[in-house]
Amino acid sequence: MDWGMQNRLGRLIQPDGHCFFLPIDHGYFQGPTSKLEKPGETIKPLIPYADGLFVTRGVLRSCVDPRNCPPIILRVSGGTSIIGKDLAHEAITTSVQEALRLNVAAVGMSIFVGSDYEHDSLLNLAKLVDEGQSYGLPVMAVTAVGKELEKRDARYLSLCCRIAAELGANIVKTYWCENFDRVVNGCPVPVVMAGGPKCETEREVFEFVYDGMQKGAIGLNLGRNVWQHPHPVAMMKALRAIIHEKASAKGAEEIFQEEKKEKKG
Ligand code: 5RP
Repeated sequence: MDWGMQNRLGRLIQPDGHCFFLPIDHGYFQGPTSKLEKPGETIKPLIPYADGLFVTRGVLRSCVDPRNCPPIILRVSGGTSIIGKDLAHEAITTSVQEALRLNVAAVGMSIFVGSDYEHDSLLNLAKLVDEGQSYGLPVMAVTAVGKELEKRDARYLSLCCRIAAELGANIVKTYWCENFDRVVNGCPVPVVMAGGPKCETEREVFEFVYDGMQKGAIGLNLGRNVWQHPHPVAMMKALRAIIHEKASAKGAEEIFQEEKKEKKG
């Protein structure tokens, strides 16, 4: 692997081989998502605990301090909205030149396997990988499901992750699901887990994150279950313990309760 590519991946993936990315890209199709109306304020207390920030160039330039931020994964796909015809109809919205100008550690885009726009999104990924490789810029593929959250099972997600890896993605972001080992084992590049819509309890989040890590994920790209939670800093710290300190779900719960009690966040 070329030096630049290694260096960028090394900024994102920590020496223990694990990572905790904080995504705040939801506005690119959802608008001012709850608790992300002012992204700069939302992330301020969370930044010290994130190994990377997944964000669009617009929010990066307007809300993120260039002198105080973790490595950036730039979301470079979009062009749809939650009220439009089809969320899967994305294109590449940001050039690799722009990504390099912003000195990002990686770029990320969604693929929509099984949708009417499967072919377009997969070719977009392949082209982005070609360009990324030329400049030592890693690509994170996001296995998106649009509004069809019920698609999140091992059969479907293992198909998506494998295709993303075959097309050259350096990291794949997918959802946790039952039998998650099937997803990870079929994917020859590192897999990180998204959180999806906010869970009922924090324990649910800790349980699936722990399970996913045991089954081979290298970490998280998890947003709403942190920043939509009333105690986001406590969530970050507890999840970080699972990712980087081998904490169990119960251990994470204890850290969470302790942090919450001390009203640290
Ligand atoms: C949304 C995304 C998010 O980065 C991804 O879904 C992770 O966030 P969450 O944990 O809130 O699901 O790609 O466009």
